[in-house]
Amino acid sequence: MASQDELKRVAAEKAVEFVPENEYIGIGTGTTVNFFIEALANSGKKIKGVVSTSHETSKLLEKYEIPEVQMNEVSHLAVYVDGADEVNHSLQMIKGGGGAHLNEKIVANIADKFICIADESKYVSRLGRFPLPVEVIPMARSMVSRKLMVLGGQPELRMDFVTFNGHQIVDIHGLNITQPISLEDEINKIPGVVENGLFGHNAADVLVLGTKDGAKVITPN
Ligand code: 5RP
Repeated sequence: MASQDELKRVAAEKAVEFVPENEYIGIGTGTTVNFFIEALANSGKKIKGVVSTSHETSKLLEKYEIPEVQMNEVSHLAVYVDGADEVNHSLQMIKGGGGAHLNEKIVANIADKFICIADESKYVSRLGRFPLPVEVIPMARSMVSRKLMVLGGQPELRMDFVTFNGHQIVDIHGLNITQPISLEDEINKIPGVVENGLFGHNAADVLVLGTKDGAKVITPN
């Protein structure tokens, strides 16, 4: 039986087909993305520049000599390619397992198309089994956690973790997410919340899923 990593690689390799040459693109963060960067390098496709979302992604781009460009230097990206912790049938996602969802949401926001890459275990009918990451200003974390409990979740501070932008993460367990967009907005309205990992407004346009029967390309329903 194929391992989860093998299925991530299946999705990552297929996703290279969605990358146009001679354009600026954005790339997320995580193990699935790492397979994608390797596959992109092996494809020999010419990329004008990549907006990266983390130090890890930048390091890998450098290793494969794929040119990086800064977010402030470009106004739009042809595609944004990233993994997810969960993705539902409308291609809304929970992201931030790696703690990079703030940068990921910023970069995804200027892309014409979001290509999500994931192994089949991530494809769910309802979001919320995976704890929802909420990036917070450190002094606000207890107040924010109390408010998140009122929303029905059990908050847990991610220990020994500081985000790219110097904040902390509270992971919320036990949420039953029936309305991803309104929950995304409600959480982001709490003072001290920098960004949460729900991608309802920034749902993917295409999901490339690695399955034991090969790569499947799924569009939202
Ligand atoms: C990082 C993310 C990742 O895309 C998500 O955690 C999936 O990671 P992986 O590809 O390692 O399973 O949102 O913030």
